[in-house]
Amino acid sequence: MRVVSVSARNFRSYEAAAAPLGGGLTIVWGSNGAGKTNLLEAVYFGCTGRSCRTTNDRELLRFGGEAGRVVVRCEDDFGAHELGVGFSPGEAKRMSVDGASVERLLDSPHRPLVSVFLPDRLELIKGVPALRRAHLDQFVTALWPSRLANRRAYAQALAQRNALIGRVRSGAGSRSSLAAWDVRLAQAGMQVMADRREAVSLIEPAFEDVAERLGLDGEPTIAYRPRSRATSVAELAEELSERLEGDVERGFTEHGPHRDDIVISRCGRSLRTYGSQGQQRLGILSLLLAERSVLAAHRPSVPLMLLDDVMSELDHDRRAALVGLLTEGGGQALITTTDLDHVPGAFSSGVARLAVAGGAVVEDVGAGSVAR
Ligand SMILES: Nc1ncnc2c1ncn2[C@@H]1O[C@H](COP(=O)(O)OP(=O)(O)OP(=O)(O)O)[C@@H](O)[C@H]1O
Ligand SMILES: [Mg+2]
Repeated sequence: MRVVSVSARNFRSYEAAAAPLGGGLTIVWGSNGAGKTNLLEAVYFGCTGRSCRTTNDRELLRFGGEAGRVVVRCEDDFGAHELGVGFSPGEAKRMSVDGASVERLLDSPHRPLVSVFLPDRLELIKGVPALRRAHLDQFVTALWPSRLANRRAYAQALAQRNALIGRVRSGAGSRSSLAAWDVRLAQAGMQVMADRREAVSLIEPAFEDVAERLGLDGEPTIAYRPRSRATSVAELAEELSERLEGDVERGFTEHGPHRDDIVISRCGRSLRTYGSQGQQRLGILSLLLAERSVLAAHRPSVPLMLLDDVMSELDHDRRAALVGLLTEGGGQALITTTDLDHVPGAFSSGVARLAVAGGAVVEDVGAGSVAR
């Protein structure tokens, strides 16, 4: 699935904008505040129905605007599709695929997969494990959509066990009724752990390869760190029941896959604790690119990479390596930059360039033209 164009009305600084995307690399360039990140965000919003910058959709509406809309057109070998997201204050978002309204764009088979890097994504390495778990789980769903059910089953069993713990604490429930929940939670938990382990084992070799090419030295590795060492449902259920008293004291289930983590390291030390800013950035880029190559091998289409302001922090060789990785394998990528000179190969054929200024796309080169 290839994104052909995006159009946005009353979205952030754009009153009305339309931009074609290239089949390979598209560079969005312009000065600070020109609207580069806004355009990248519009592409993400049109593909997923969510912003990659905020959970508050009100921020997306252009100052003074009444209603906004983003439309993304995409195509694959079987045909063309149009994804639309309309939004206005105080109303539910209206999402559509080919004109028919849908509850969630994310469930549509016609939406392109997207992978995004924003400067604040360093949190994925620096922040709490919950962020890494959520990221890994999203990848599991992108790779095997039906396995979302495993995670939902686990979340449901966990919520029920926690509710029961709450009742035991208040004297309304009995400890004996928890045993059955331990087994259900353990069944769902073993499945979630198996999915995560399998996903990380697929990412691992690609990660090491990409990280080396991006110049992240020190034998970088990525590893799944499950909280539990259980190898069977019975063992996990046993671990849960052993911790029951502590859980009742605390008021929630302390042990299990909802405490898992993934660790990215170099020289055997975690990047979270010891990595430099640049190494952490390369670690995330390597993870995203490794995920892309796994998805390319297992899914019908390669995810569109959206990389915001990534070049300014990289040295020349690493910029060239990144462009090389982005343009191989037939994937699509959009990167923003203040300076075209920061993108090696910016003027090569096959690279599309969109110049933005003052909240408008002022020039496009190399991606074909669309009606404005
Ligand atoms: N809801 C909104 N309505 C109107 N303008 C907005 C809205 N939200 C943000 N803006 C403005 O859009 C402008 C462009 O923002 P954007 O983040 O796209 O800039 P940028 O080109 O990525 O700049 P930089 O190089 O500094 O990252 C900013 O001036 C910002 O204040
Ligand atoms: Mg920006």
